[in-house]
Amino acid sequence: MAKSVIVAIDGPAGAGKSTVARSVANRLGYLYIDSGAMYRAVALWAIQNQVPLDDLHRLEQLARQAHIEFPDGRVLLNGADVTAAIREAEIGEAASKVAACGGVRRAMREEQRRIAASQSAVMEGRDIGTVVFPDAQVKIYLDADPAERARRRAAETGLSPEHVARQISERDHRDRTRAEAPLAQAPDAEYLDTSGLTPQQVEEAILKLVRKRTSN
Ligand code: DC
Repeated sequence: MAKSVIVAIDGPAGAGKSTVARSVANRLGYLYIDSGAMYRAVALWAIQNQVPLDDLHRLEQLARQAHIEFPDGRVLLNGADVTAAIREAEIGEAASKVAACGGVRRAMREEQRRIAASQSAVMEGRDIGTVVFPDAQVKIYLDADPAERARRRAAETGLSPEHVARQISERDHRDRTRAEAPLAQAPDAEYLDTSGLTPQQVEEAILKLVRKRTSN
């Protein structure tokens, strides 16, 4: 049997990871895993259960009990469909806080490795190429200039670009400076600046890299 392939796509908020990771996975016939959705689901659950976002012990307990699945593009948390609820801006903010908890990260990391253990996958996040799959065959660090990233998120959410710019700059700062598995480019990751590129161009660049790295 052919060895399974991991394509790790990391980068800050609004760099275009989800759109291209999903289409690259479709084109390759690989599983698509949005690791950010997993942190968002834990954050949503913590809020629903009134668990303070700095209660590390209870957050880890919640994360260990969270059963997260991705059937046909949806996100299920212990069987409940949370696809739309986790996309709220305040859940993104809460996810970034919850993701600073080492216990939550350990639980999510184990789950991410389990999901991709037996099949090829495109996984996007902040620490996929650095920590979750340091041996991934293909690693990409997607970036774009901050104004462009804010514009993209504003178009998705309907909020003002200025407001979104402040939100994502705070979130990126937290994600980059946390002690455990901070957002960083793996030394062997390909840096790709998506400012001014269409999703199709980014997709082609990634597919080219996958072909290069997976052909002997
Ligand atoms: O990709 P996203 O915006 O849905 O991620 C939400 C938050 O989850 C992000 O601010 C940081 C956290 N996250 C993380 O710490 N590690 C990952 N691999 C993915 C997301």
